Amino acid sequence: MKSGDIHLERLSVKRLNRILAMLLSEMKDLTDEGRDFPIRWNIMHMYSTSQLAKLLAIHRGIDPDLAGIAAALHDIGVVMTKKHEGHAEAAIPYVYEFIERYNRESSGKLSRVTQEEIETIVKTIVQHSDKELTSDDPFVELLRDVDSIDAYLHGVEIGGGRLERCEKVMKELGINGPYGQ
Ligand SMILES: [Fe+2]
Repeated sequence: MKSGDIHLERLSVKRLNRILAMLLSEMKDLTDEGRDFPIRWNIMHMYSTSQLAKLLAIHRGIDPDLAGIAAALHDIGVVMTKKHEGHAEAAIPYVYEFIERYNRESSGKLSRVTQEEIETIVKTIVQHSDKELTSDDPFVELLRDVDSIDAYLHGVEIGGGRLERCEKVMKELGINGPYGQ
């Protein structure tokens, strides 16, 4: 499809927007004490990964709202435990709890996150740190790619699986310089 053939309608991301608002209100008053990373990094990374996740999801033909929700929640393990080590696994109870709260509080106003979607989100988050592995699940692959690209764009020095993923996505999007080439 030529770019001139794309017709953009308003993107349906009401669930994601509500979830981001709920997450921000939890995070904005947290202090940096005892944290591996300052909380402002988590806030910034939450927004930027969810934006990149939507863009890449649209490009890959998968649900941008669901991809954005997984990205928004993906480091909740770091936020809640303050630790980076093992944060992907540590996220599991917080993700379930958070989405249950979203479903309860948004009932009748916004669409629910279904059980099937919750399982996709949890799986995607649990597997997001394994940047060197490849998955058949498009949401798992997307979050690993997006997390890598976001670190690169924030000026984090990356190597290994994250670097390979960045190069792969740049190629996929037809971005090949000339800056820094
Ligand atoms: Fe992470």
